[in-house]
Amino acid sequence: MSRHAIRELLDSLDFGRMLPEDYAAYRPLLIDGLSYFLEQLPEQRLSGILMEQFSLGAACCFTDRLLSLLHQCPTLHKLGQIIARDRRLSIKLRQCLQQLESISPNSQLEKLPAHQLQTLQHIPGIKLGRQPLAEASIAVIVPFTWTDKSQGKTGHGVFKLLKEGVTERLLQELEIWRGLGSFLEERCAYHGLPLLDYRETLESMCLLLRQEVCFEQEQQHLLQASAYYANEPHILVPRLLPFCTDEITAMERIDGCKVTDAPIPLQKRNLLADRLLGCMIAKPFWDPAEETMFHADPHAGNLFCTRDEKLALLDWTLAGRLQKQQRIDLIQIALGGITQEAARVCQAIEHLGQTQADGSRLRNCVDAALREVRQGHFPGFAWAQRLLDSVALANVMSFPRNLVLFRKTLLTLSSVVADIAENSSVDQIMLATGVREFFTEAPQRMLAHPTARTFGTHLSNLDLLALWYTAPNSAAAYWLGAWQDCLTLLRGRA
Ligand SMILES: Nc1ncnc2c1ncn2[C@@H]1O[C@H](COP(=O)(O)OP(=O)(O)O)[C@@H](O)[C@H]1O
Ligand SMILES: [Mg+2]
Repeated sequence: MSRHAIRELLDSLDFGRMLPEDYAAYRPLLIDGLSYFLEQLPEQRLSGILMEQFSLGAACCFTDRLLSLLHQCPTLHKLGQIIARDRRLSIKLRQCLQQLESISPNSQLEKLPAHQLQTLQHIPGIKLGRQPLAEASIAVIVPFTWTDKSQGKTGHGVFKLLKEGVTERLLQELEIWRGLGSFLEERCAYHGLPLLDYRETLESMCLLLRQEVCFEQEQQHLLQASAYYANEPHILVPRLLPFCTDEITAMERIDGCKVTDAPIPLQKRNLLADRLLGCMIAKPFWDPAEETMFHADPHAGNLFCTRDEKLALLDWTLAGRLQKQQRIDLIQIALGGITQEAARVCQAIEHLGQTQADGSRLRNCVDAALREVRQGHFPGFAWAQRLLDSVALANVMSFPRNLVLFRKTLLTLSSVVADIAENSSVDQIMLATGVREFFTEAPQRMLAHPTARTFGTHLSNLDLLALWYTAPNSAAAYWLGAWQDCLTLLRGRA
Protein backbone atom coordinates (compact mmCIF):
# COMPACT_ATOMS: atom_id res chain seq x y z
CA MET A 1 0.00 0.00 0.00
CA SER A 2 1.60 3.24 -1.08
CA ARG A 3 2.22 6.19 1.14
CA HIS A 4 -0.08 8.18 -1.09
CA ALA A 5 -3.03 5.83 -0.55
CA ILE A 6 -2.75 6.03 3.25
CA ARG A 7 -2.52 9.80 3.14
CA GLU A 8 -5.58 9.95 0.89
CA LEU A 9 -7.53 7.76 3.26
CA LEU A 10 -6.59 9.87 6.29
CA ASP A 11 -7.37 13.10 4.47
CA SER A 12 -10.73 11.82 3.28
CA LEU A 13 -11.59 10.78 6.83
CA ASP A 14 -10.33 14.15 8.06
CA PHE A 15 -8.68 12.67 11.13
CA GLY A 16 -7.30 16.09 12.04
CA ARG A 17 -10.71 17.07 13.42
CA MET A 18 -10.03 14.87 16.44
CA LEU A 19 -8.07 17.80 17.82
CA PRO A 20 -10.12 20.73 19.15
CA GLU A 21 -10.04 24.12 17.46
CA ASP A 22 -7.50 25.50 19.98
CA TYR A 23 -4.98 22.93 18.77
CA ALA A 24 -5.83 23.22 15.08
CA ALA A 25 -2.20 24.05 14.28
CA TYR A 26 -1.28 20.50 15.36
CA ARG A 27 -3.75 18.78 13.00
CA PRO A 28 -1.23 18.36 10.13
CA LEU A 29 1.22 16.89 12.65
CA LEU A 30 -1.39 14.39 13.84
CA ILE A 31 -2.04 13.29 10.26
CA ASP A 32 1.70 13.04 9.57
CA GLY A 33 2.20 10.95 12.71
CA LEU A 34 -0.72 8.65 11.98
CA SER A 35 0.31 8.05 8.38
CA TYR A 36 3.89 7.34 9.50
CA PHE A 37 2.51 4.83 12.02
CA LEU A 38 0.27 3.08 9.48
CA GLU A 39 2.94 2.99 6.81
CA GLN A 40 5.34 1.18 9.10
CA LEU A 41 2.86 -1.54 10.11
CA PRO A 42 3.43 -4.96 8.54
CA GLU A 43 1.68 -5.20 5.17
CA GLN A 44 -0.80 -7.78 6.41
CA ARG A 45 -1.96 -5.71 9.37
CA LEU A 46 -2.24 -2.57 7.30
CA SER A 47 -4.39 -4.26 4.68
CA GLY A 48 -6.58 -5.66 7.48
CA ILE A 49 -7.12 -2.15 8.82
CA LEU A 50 -7.81 -0.66 5.42
CA MET A 51 -10.14 -3.50 4.42
CA GLU A 52 -12.18 -2.87 7.52
CA GLN A 53 -12.28 0.85 6.80
CA PHE A 54 -13.52 0.22 3.25
CA SER A 55 -16.05 -2.35 4.40
CA LEU A 56 -17.63 0.21 6.75
CA GLY A 57 -19.31 1.88 3.77
CA ALA A 58 -19.80 5.50 2.84
CA ALA A 59 -22.56 6.20 5.38
CA CYS A 60 -20.43 5.17 8.38
CA CYS A 61 -19.71 8.08 10.72
CA PHE A 62 -16.27 9.33 11.67
CA THR A 63 -16.39 8.03 15.24
CA ASP A 64 -17.18 4.46 14.16
CA ARG A 65 -14.27 4.55 11.73
CA LEU A 66 -12.00 5.87 14.42
CA LEU A 67 -13.14 3.15 16.83
CA SER A 68 -12.46 0.48 14.24
CA LEU A 69 -8.90 1.77 13.75
CA LEU A 70 -8.17 2.05 17.49
CA HIS A 71 -9.51 -1.44 18.19
CA GLN A 72 -6.99 -2.95 15.86
CA CYS A 73 -3.94 -1.26 17.39
CA PRO A 74 -3.33 -1.84 21.12
CA THR A 75 -1.14 1.25 21.56
CA LEU A 76 -3.72 3.51 19.90
CA HIS A 77 -6.45 1.81 21.95
CA LYS A 78 -4.48 2.71 25.10
CA LEU A 79 -4.08 6.34 24.01
CA GLY A 80 -7.79 6.50 23.27
CA GLN A 81 -8.57 5.34 26.82
CA ILE A 82 -6.30 7.99 28.31
CA ILE A 83 -7.89 10.92 26.49
CA ALA A 84 -11.45 9.56 26.56
CA ARG A 85 -12.62 12.01 29.21
CA ASP A 86 -10.54 15.02 28.29
CA ARG A 87 -13.02 17.89 28.22
CA ARG A 88 -11.11 19.72 25.54
CA LEU A 89 -12.42 17.09 23.08
CA SER A 90 -15.94 17.25 21.67
CA ILE A 91 -18.57 15.33 23.62
CA LYS A 92 -19.25 13.10 20.62
CA LEU A 93 -15.61 12.11 20.37
CA ARG A 94 -15.36 11.52 24.12
CA GLN A 95 -18.41 9.27 24.07
CA CYS A 96 -16.85 7.32 21.24
CA LEU A 97 -13.51 6.91 23.01
CA GLN A 98 -15.18 5.91 26.28
CA GLN A 99 -16.29 2.73 24.53
CA LEU A 100 -12.62 1.72 24.57
CA GLU A 101 -12.43 1.75 28.37
CA SER A 102 -14.03 -1.65 28.72
CA ILE A 103 -15.72 -3.60 25.99
CA SER A 104 -18.42 -6.20 26.39
CA PRO A 105 -16.91 -8.98 24.36
CA ASN A 106 -18.91 -10.59 21.60
CA SER A 107 -16.35 -13.34 21.28
CA GLN A 108 -17.00 -16.81 22.65
CA LEU A 109 -14.67 -18.80 24.88
CA GLU A 110 -13.72 -20.94 21.90
CA LYS A 111 -12.00 -17.89 20.38
CA LEU A 112 -9.38 -17.92 23.14
CA PRO A 113 -6.01 -19.45 22.24
CA ALA A 114 -6.51 -23.24 22.42
CA HIS A 115 -3.60 -23.94 24.76
CA GLN A 116 -4.82 -21.34 27.26
CA LEU A 117 -8.39 -22.62 27.18
CA GLN A 118 -7.11 -26.11 27.86
CA THR A 119 -5.00 -24.92 30.79
CA LEU A 120 -8.02 -23.20 32.32
CA GLN A 121 -10.35 -26.14 31.79
CA HIS A 122 -7.94 -28.49 33.52
CA ILE A 123 -7.57 -26.56 36.77
CA PRO A 124 -9.25 -28.74 39.41
CA GLY A 125 -12.33 -27.29 41.12
CA ILE A 126 -12.82 -24.63 38.43
CA LYS A 127 -15.97 -24.02 36.42
CA LEU A 128 -15.49 -21.52 33.59
CA GLY A 129 -18.22 -19.03 32.68
CA ARG A 130 -19.86 -19.45 29.28
CA GLN A 131 -18.27 -16.42 27.72
CA PRO A 132 -15.71 -13.72 28.57
CA LEU A 133 -16.86 -11.00 30.94
CA ALA A 134 -15.00 -8.09 29.40
CA GLU A 135 -12.03 -7.10 27.35
CA ALA A 136 -9.96 -3.95 26.92
CA SER A 137 -6.78 -2.99 25.11
CA ILE A 138 -4.65 -5.97 26.07
CA ALA A 139 -6.61 -8.52 28.04
CA VAL A 140 -9.69 -10.73 27.96
CA ILE A 141 -11.39 -11.39 31.27
CA VAL A 142 -13.01 -14.80 31.76
CA PRO A 143 -15.22 -15.41 34.80
CA PHE A 144 -15.20 -18.64 36.80
CA THR A 145 -16.47 -20.17 40.00
CA TRP A 146 -14.26 -22.35 42.06
CA THR A 147 -14.82 -24.63 44.98
CA ASP A 148 -12.36 -24.91 47.78
CA LYS A 149 -13.03 -28.51 48.85
CA SER A 150 -11.01 -28.27 52.06
CA GLN A 151 -13.20 -25.41 53.28
CA GLY A 152 -16.32 -26.36 51.32
CA LYS A 153 -16.61 -22.80 49.96
CA THR A 154 -17.48 -21.51 46.49
CA GLY A 155 -15.94 -18.27 45.24
CA HIS A 156 -16.21 -16.09 42.15
CA GLY A 157 -13.05 -15.24 40.30
CA VAL A 158 -11.79 -14.03 36.93
CA PHE A 159 -8.90 -15.06 34.75
CA LYS A 160 -7.08 -12.29 32.96
CA LEU A 161 -5.51 -13.53 29.70
CA LEU A 162 -3.75 -11.78 26.89
CA LYS A 163 -5.86 -11.28 23.76
CA GLU A 164 -4.81 -13.51 20.91
CA GLY A 165 -1.70 -12.13 19.15
CA VAL A 166 -1.68 -8.94 21.23
CA THR A 167 1.96 -9.22 22.38
CA GLU A 168 3.17 -9.44 18.80
CA ARG A 169 0.98 -6.51 17.73
CA LEU A 170 2.12 -4.44 20.71
CA LEU A 171 5.81 -5.07 20.08
CA GLN A 172 5.45 -4.23 16.39
CA GLU A 173 3.79 -0.96 17.30
CA LEU A 174 6.29 -0.04 20.00
CA GLU A 175 9.08 -0.37 17.47
CA ILE A 176 7.26 2.15 15.28
CA TRP A 177 6.66 4.56 18.19
CA ARG A 178 10.39 4.51 18.81
CA GLY A 179 11.11 6.00 15.38
CA LEU A 180 8.10 8.30 15.52
CA GLY A 181 9.77 10.72 17.98
CA SER A 182 12.46 11.97 15.63
CA PHE A 183 10.00 11.96 12.71
CA LEU A 184 7.61 14.23 14.66
CA GLU A 185 10.45 16.56 15.61
CA GLU A 186 11.34 16.92 11.91
CA ARG A 187 7.72 17.55 10.97
CA CYS A 188 7.37 20.12 13.76
CA ALA A 189 10.17 22.12 12.20
CA TYR A 190 8.46 21.75 8.78
CA HIS A 191 5.07 22.97 10.08
CA GLY A 192 6.69 25.74 12.17
CA LEU A 193 5.40 24.27 15.45
CA PRO A 194 7.26 24.56 18.78
CA LEU A 195 9.80 21.81 19.17
CA LEU A 196 8.89 19.50 22.05
CA ASP A 197 10.90 16.56 23.29
CA TYR A 198 8.81 13.91 21.48
CA ARG A 199 11.64 11.40 21.44
CA GLU A 200 11.98 11.26 25.21
CA THR A 201 8.19 11.27 25.73
CA LEU A 202 7.60 8.43 23.30
CA GLU A 203 10.57 6.49 24.61
CA SER A 204 9.13 6.55 28.14
CA MET A 205 5.69 5.69 26.82
CA CYS A 206 7.14 2.62 25.06
CA LEU A 207 8.87 1.49 28.23
CA LEU A 208 5.60 1.71 30.11
CA LEU A 209 3.48 0.02 27.48
CA ARG A 210 5.90 -2.86 27.34
CA GLN A 211 4.86 -3.62 30.94
CA GLU A 212 1.24 -4.07 29.85
CA VAL A 213 1.88 -7.65 28.75
CA CYS A 214 3.94 -8.58 31.78
CA PHE A 215 1.47 -10.40 34.02
CA GLU A 216 3.99 -11.47 36.66
CA GLN A 217 4.73 -7.82 37.31
CA GLU A 218 1.02 -7.02 37.56
CA GLN A 219 0.63 -9.81 40.10
CA GLN A 220 3.45 -8.25 42.15
CA HIS A 221 1.74 -4.87 41.95
CA LEU A 222 -1.59 -6.41 43.00
CA LEU A 223 0.02 -7.91 46.08
CA GLN A 224 1.75 -4.65 47.00
CA ALA A 225 -1.41 -2.62 46.37
CA SER A 226 -3.52 -4.99 48.49
CA ALA A 227 -1.10 -4.45 51.38
CA TYR A 228 -0.97 -0.69 50.75
CA TYR A 229 -4.75 -0.27 50.88
CA ALA A 230 -5.41 -2.95 53.50
CA ASN A 231 -6.40 -0.36 56.12
CA GLU A 232 -8.75 1.55 53.84
CA PRO A 233 -12.21 0.05 54.38
CA HIS A 234 -13.71 1.74 51.27
CA ILE A 235 -11.03 0.65 48.83
CA LEU A 236 -10.85 -2.76 47.18
CA VAL A 237 -7.95 -4.26 45.30
CA PRO A 238 -8.77 -7.66 43.74
CA ARG A 239 -7.22 -10.45 45.78
CA LEU A 240 -4.96 -12.81 43.84
CA LEU A 241 -6.12 -16.43 43.64
CA PRO A 242 -3.74 -19.36 43.61
CA PHE A 243 -3.99 -20.22 39.89
CA CYS A 244 -1.69 -17.51 38.53
CA THR A 245 1.02 -18.20 35.96
CA ASP A 246 3.17 -15.86 33.90
CA GLU A 247 0.41 -15.85 31.24
CA ILE A 248 -2.67 -15.90 33.46
CA THR A 249 -3.70 -13.75 36.38
CA ALA A 250 -6.42 -15.28 38.54
CA MET A 251 -8.12 -12.90 40.93
CA GLU A 252 -11.24 -12.20 42.91
CA ARG A 253 -14.17 -11.08 40.73
CA ILE A 254 -15.33 -7.56 41.46
CA ASP A 255 -19.05 -7.09 41.13
CA GLY A 256 -19.62 -3.52 40.05
CA CYS A 257 -19.55 -0.99 37.22
CA LYS A 258 -17.34 1.84 36.00
CA VAL A 259 -17.20 4.65 38.59
CA THR A 260 -18.58 7.07 36.03
CA ASP A 261 -21.70 4.89 35.53
CA ALA A 262 -22.43 4.21 39.22
CA PRO A 263 -26.19 4.57 39.86
CA ILE A 264 -25.82 6.65 43.03
CA PRO A 265 -27.22 10.02 44.15
CA LEU A 266 -25.29 13.26 43.74
CA GLN A 267 -24.08 13.48 47.32
CA LYS A 268 -22.56 10.03 47.13
CA ARG A 269 -21.02 10.84 43.77
CA ASN A 270 -19.18 13.74 45.41
CA LEU A 271 -17.95 11.40 48.10
CA LEU A 272 -16.82 8.86 45.51
CA ALA A 273 -14.92 11.53 43.55
CA ASP A 274 -13.20 12.78 46.72
CA ARG A 275 -12.35 9.23 47.67
CA LEU A 276 -10.76 8.63 44.26
CA LEU A 277 -8.47 11.64 44.60
CA GLY A 278 -7.83 10.83 48.23
CA CYS A 279 -6.72 7.26 47.74
CA MET A 280 -4.97 7.56 44.39
CA ILE A 281 -3.16 10.91 44.68
CA ALA A 282 -3.23 12.20 48.26
CA LYS A 283 -2.42 8.88 49.94
CA PRO A 284 0.80 8.16 48.03
CA PHE A 285 1.75 11.84 48.26
CA TRP A 286 1.28 12.46 52.00
CA ASP A 287 3.21 9.40 52.99
CA PRO A 288 6.44 9.50 54.99
CA ALA A 289 7.89 6.39 53.24
CA GLU A 290 11.02 6.68 51.13
CA GLU A 291 9.14 5.36 48.10
CA THR A 292 5.37 5.11 47.54
CA MET A 293 3.39 3.45 44.79
CA PHE A 294 0.49 4.79 42.75
CA HIS A 295 -1.90 3.31 40.19
CA ALA A 296 -0.66 4.78 36.93
CA ASP A 297 -3.55 3.97 34.57
CA PRO A 298 -6.64 5.38 36.29
CA HIS A 299 -9.06 5.58 33.35
CA ALA A 300 -12.68 4.80 34.13
CA GLY A 301 -12.52 1.21 32.83
CA ASN A 302 -10.03 0.42 35.57
CA LEU A 303 -12.01 2.01 38.40
CA PHE A 304 -15.14 0.22 39.57
CA CYS A 305 -17.82 1.13 42.07
CA THR A 306 -19.17 -1.99 43.77
CA ARG A 307 -22.75 -2.65 44.86
CA ASP A 308 -21.85 -1.70 48.43
CA GLU A 309 -20.35 1.53 47.07
CA LYS A 310 -16.72 0.65 47.59
CA LEU A 311 -14.11 1.79 45.14
CA ALA A 312 -12.29 -1.03 43.36
CA LEU A 313 -8.92 -0.38 41.72
CA LEU A 314 -8.43 -2.81 38.81
CA ASP A 315 -5.67 -3.36 36.30
CA TRP A 316 -2.35 -2.87 38.04
CA THR A 317 -0.18 -3.47 34.98
CA LEU A 318 1.03 0.12 35.23
CA ALA A 319 2.15 1.29 38.65
CA GLY A 320 4.38 4.29 39.35
CA ARG A 321 6.65 5.20 42.25
CA LEU A 322 7.19 8.55 43.92
CA GLN A 323 10.38 9.22 45.85
CA LYS A 324 10.43 11.02 49.18
CA GLN A 325 12.81 13.71 47.87
CA GLN A 326 10.46 14.44 44.96
CA ARG A 327 7.56 14.95 47.36
CA ILE A 328 9.73 17.26 49.46
CA ASP A 329 10.62 19.30 46.37
CA LEU A 330 6.98 19.55 45.29
CA ILE A 331 6.05 20.88 48.70
CA GLN A 332 8.93 23.36 48.56
CA ILE A 333 7.50 24.68 45.27
CA ALA A 334 4.12 25.28 46.91
CA LEU A 335 5.79 26.90 49.95
CA GLY A 336 7.75 29.19 47.64
CA GLY A 337 4.42 30.06 46.00
CA ILE A 338 2.92 31.06 49.35
CA THR A 339 5.97 33.08 50.42
CA GLN A 340 6.50 34.54 46.91
CA GLU A 341 10.14 33.38 46.90
CA ALA A 342 11.09 32.84 43.28
CA ALA A 343 14.57 31.56 44.19
CA ARG A 344 13.15 28.85 46.43
CA VAL A 345 10.74 27.68 43.72
CA CYS A 346 13.50 27.66 41.09
CA GLN A 347 15.80 25.67 43.36
CA ALA A 348 13.14 23.03 44.06
CA ILE A 349 12.32 22.70 40.35
CA GLU A 350 16.01 22.34 39.47
CA HIS A 351 16.26 19.65 42.09
CA LEU A 352 13.31 17.79 40.57
CA GLY A 353 14.57 17.97 36.99
CA GLN A 354 16.80 15.46 35.29
CA THR A 355 18.52 17.92 32.96
CA GLN A 356 20.24 21.23 33.63
CA ALA A 357 17.77 24.11 33.44
CA ASP A 358 18.26 27.29 31.47
CA GLY A 359 18.30 29.62 34.52
CA SER A 360 16.73 32.73 33.02
CA ARG A 361 13.96 30.87 31.18
CA LEU A 362 13.16 28.92 34.31
CA ARG A 363 12.95 32.17 36.23
CA ASN A 364 10.52 33.54 33.60
CA CYS A 365 8.20 30.55 34.09
CA VAL A 366 8.39 30.87 37.87
CA ASP A 367 7.76 34.63 37.78
CA ALA A 368 4.69 34.07 35.61
CA ALA A 369 3.39 31.46 38.07
CA LEU A 370 4.00 33.73 41.09
CA ARG A 371 2.11 36.46 39.26
CA GLU A 372 -0.82 34.04 38.95
CA VAL A 373 -0.77 33.65 42.73
CA ARG A 374 -0.95 37.42 43.20
CA GLN A 375 -3.90 37.44 40.84
CA GLY A 376 -5.77 35.11 43.18
CA HIS A 377 -4.72 31.55 42.23
CA PHE A 378 -4.19 29.33 45.22
CA PRO A 379 -0.53 28.21 45.28
CA GLY A 380 -1.42 24.61 45.96
CA PHE A 381 -0.85 21.26 44.35
CA ALA A 382 -2.62 22.05 41.07
CA TRP A 383 -0.73 25.33 40.72
CA ALA A 384 2.62 23.58 41.29
CA GLN A 385 1.74 20.94 38.68
CA ARG A 386 0.77 23.61 36.17
CA LEU A 387 4.06 25.37 36.79
CA LEU A 388 5.96 22.14 36.05
CA ASP A 389 3.90 21.75 32.86
CA SER A 390 4.87 25.22 31.73
CA VAL A 391 8.55 24.50 32.43
CA ALA A 392 8.38 21.24 30.45
CA LEU A 393 6.39 22.76 27.58
CA ALA A 394 8.81 25.67 27.25
CA ASN A 395 11.54 23.03 26.94
CA VAL A 396 13.43 24.61 29.84
CA MET A 397 14.33 21.20 31.26
CA SER A 398 12.96 17.68 31.44
CA PHE A 399 11.72 15.69 34.41
CA PRO A 400 12.20 12.07 35.47
CA ARG A 401 9.81 9.51 34.02
CA ASN A 402 8.10 8.67 37.28
CA LEU A 403 7.19 12.32 37.80
CA VAL A 404 5.84 12.62 34.27
CA LEU A 405 3.83 9.45 34.89
CA PHE A 406 2.44 10.92 38.11
CA ARG A 407 1.42 14.03 36.18
CA LYS A 408 -0.27 11.93 33.49
CA THR A 409 -2.04 9.96 36.22
CA LEU A 410 -3.35 13.14 37.80
CA LEU A 411 -4.61 14.46 34.46
CA THR A 412 -6.39 11.20 33.58
CA LEU A 413 -7.88 10.92 37.04
CA SER A 414 -9.01 14.56 37.09
CA SER A 415 -11.01 14.07 33.93
CA VAL A 416 -12.63 10.91 35.35
CA VAL A 417 -13.42 12.76 38.58
CA ALA A 418 -14.97 15.65 36.61
CA ASP A 419 -17.35 13.13 35.00
CA ILE A 420 -18.41 11.84 38.43
CA ALA A 421 -18.87 15.11 40.30
CA GLU A 422 -18.45 18.61 38.91
CA ASN A 423 -17.16 20.28 42.05
CA SER A 424 -14.50 17.92 43.36
CA SER A 425 -11.11 19.63 43.42
CA VAL A 426 -7.67 18.15 43.79
CA ASP A 427 -6.50 21.18 45.80
CA GLN A 428 -9.29 20.81 48.33
CA ILE A 429 -8.59 17.13 48.82
CA MET A 430 -4.83 17.63 49.05
CA LEU A 431 -5.29 20.41 51.57
CA ALA A 432 -7.79 18.52 53.71
CA THR A 433 -5.73 15.32 53.76
CA GLY A 434 -2.50 17.29 54.28
CA VAL A 435 -3.92 19.11 57.31
CA ARG A 436 -5.13 15.78 58.72
CA GLU A 437 -1.64 14.33 58.26
CA PHE A 438 -0.15 17.41 59.93
CA PHE A 439 -2.22 16.89 63.08
CA THR A 440 -1.45 13.17 63.14
CA GLU A 441 2.28 13.80 63.05
CA ALA A 442 2.20 16.77 65.49
CA PRO A 443 3.28 14.74 68.58
CA GLN A 444 6.37 13.39 66.77
CA ARG A 445 7.38 16.93 65.81
CA MET A 446 8.12 17.74 69.46
CA LEU A 447 11.09 15.38 69.44
CA ALA A 448 12.23 15.80 65.86
CA HIS A 449 15.43 17.43 64.62
CA PRO A 450 14.59 20.95 63.32
CA THR A 451 15.62 20.13 59.74
CA ALA A 452 14.12 16.62 59.58
CA ARG A 453 11.53 16.23 56.82
CA THR A 454 10.72 12.64 57.63
CA PHE A 455 7.03 13.47 58.13
CA GLY A 456 4.13 12.67 55.84
CA THR A 457 3.69 16.40 55.12
CA HIS A 458 7.39 16.55 54.10
CA LEU A 459 7.86 19.78 56.08
CA SER A 460 10.53 20.24 58.74
CA ASN A 461 9.99 22.26 61.90
CA LEU A 462 12.42 24.78 60.44
CA ASP A 463 10.28 25.08 57.29
CA LEU A 464 7.29 25.86 59.50
CA LEU A 465 9.25 28.34 61.59
CA ALA A 466 10.58 30.07 58.48
CA LEU A 467 7.05 30.26 57.12
CA TRP A 468 5.97 31.96 60.32
CA TYR A 469 8.95 34.38 60.38
CA THR A 470 8.78 35.26 56.70
CA ALA A 471 5.06 35.99 56.86
CA PRO A 472 5.69 39.79 56.95
CA ASN A 473 8.31 39.45 54.20
CA SER A 474 5.95 37.32 52.16
CA ALA A 475 3.31 40.00 52.48
CA ALA A 476 5.90 42.59 51.41
CA ALA A 477 7.00 40.41 48.46
CA TYR A 478 3.36 39.95 47.54
CA TRP A 479 2.60 43.68 47.54
CA LEU A 480 5.85 44.59 45.80
CA GLY A 481 5.07 42.00 43.12
CA ALA A 482 1.48 43.22 42.84
CA TRP A 483 2.73 46.81 42.43
CA GLN A 484 5.15 45.70 39.68
CA ASP A 485 2.32 43.79 37.94
CA CYS A 486 0.29 46.98 38.03
CA LEU A 487 3.08 49.05 36.49
CA THR A 488 3.63 46.44 33.78
CA LEU A 489 -0.06 46.52 32.97
CA LEU A 490 -0.14 50.32 32.81
CA ARG A 491 2.99 50.35 30.64
CA GLY A 492 1.29 47.88 28.31
CA ARG A 493 -1.75 50.16 27.97
CA ALA A 494 0.25 53.35 27.46
N1 LIG B 1 -11.23 -8.57 38.99
C1 LIG B 1 -12.15 -8.20 38.10
N2 LIG B 1 -13.47 -8.39 38.34
C2 LIG B 1 -14.39 -8.01 37.44
N3 LIG B 1 -14.11 -7.43 36.24
C3 LIG B 1 -12.82 -7.22 35.94
C4 LIG B 1 -11.77 -7.60 36.84
N4 LIG B 1 -10.59 -7.25 36.25
C5 LIG B 1 -10.89 -6.70 35.07
N5 LIG B 1 -12.22 -6.66 34.85
C6 LIG B 1 -12.93 -6.13 33.66
O1 LIG B 1 -12.15 -6.36 32.51
C7 LIG B 1 -11.77 -5.14 31.88
C8 LIG B 1 -10.38 -5.27 31.31
O2 LIG B 1 -9.45 -5.66 32.34
P1 LIG B 1 -8.06 -4.92 32.53
O3 LIG B 1 -7.34 -5.58 33.64
O4 LIG B 1 -8.33 -3.47 32.72
O5 LIG B 1 -7.34 -5.18 31.14
P2 LIG B 1 -6.54 -4.22 30.15
O6 LIG B 1 -5.12 -4.28 30.59
O7 LIG B 1 -6.72 -4.80 28.79
O8 LIG B 1 -7.11 -2.84 30.26
C9 LIG B 1 -11.93 -4.08 32.96
O9 LIG B 1 -12.19 -2.83 32.40
C10 LIG B 1 -13.12 -4.63 33.73
O10 LIG B 1 -14.33 -4.31 33.05
MG1 LIG C 1 -7.57 -1.78 31.81
